Amino acid sequence: MSKIYRVPALDTNYIWIIQPDTAHDHVWIIDPGESEPVLRLLAQLNLKPVALLITHHHKDHTGGIAGILDTYNVPVYGPESERIPQITHYLHDGDSFHIEHLAVDVMATPGHTLDSHSYLVHADAGPNWLFCGDALFSGGCGRVFEGTAAQGLASLRRLTVLDDSTLLYCGHEYTRQNLIFARHVEPDNEMAGQRLDNIDRQIATEGASLPSSIGLEKQINPYLRLHSATLQRSIEHHFGEKISDEVALFAHLRRWKDHF
Ligand SMILES: [Fe+2]
Repeated sequence: MSKIYRVPALDTNYIWIIQPDTAHDHVWIIDPGESEPVLRLLAQLNLKPVALLITHHHKDHTGGIAGILDTYNVPVYGPESERIPQITHYLHDGDSFHIEHLAVDVMATPGHTLDSHSYLVHADAGPNWLFCGDALFSGGCGRVFEGTAAQGLASLRRLTVLDDSTLLYCGHEYTRQNLIFARHVEPDNEMAGQRLDNIDRQIATEGASLPSSIGLEKQINPYLRLHSATLQRSIEHHFGEKISDEVALFAHLRRWKDHF
């Protein structure tokens, strides 16, 4: 049986650790934004890292690589990006690799950064897992820093064709503030309102709002709901212009959130 550990790091980051088989001590570490909490957990639970896996170059996802490599000499898998000098195994869109017996598909999801990758892990029982860094959040998506709005939207669309059951392990606990914006822009979305109403209780009892799922996000996440007439009207009203296509709606919605 496999297991996923959640390690809170920095202010809002989550470092995810996959133990492919709980009968063995091998683990893979995803996006170590800092090393100390990871090293502490490994020591506490007697786990042995065999590789690191990186979604994009931002420091809050890579800042702990060096500190982990100081203690453990392991390979680092990730995008071919000169901004992550420690990568030893380059991954490209469409590649597949294995985390022990678990098959993983690599999806390039540019937008937040140009080197953004999402990783779909085929779980051996139950729903698959998506580790998407800052491409998609629960209730939101990463700010479009480097790619174009068209790239960002295309990346999100690739993720939304995954099975609804796919569990979403993103890089930050941003759900509450994302949902406050979601309710503002699509006030008649009862599912989004309910998730917001329940979010504090969920975080208090479960420690986090994650994982979410692709199916849930399609119902609550405004960036995946550009077809909503209410949402379109909100965006057009806010910017005072008629907006005819979904890329422009996405770009305006993301810009609105940047200043919300
Ligand atoms: Fe981040």
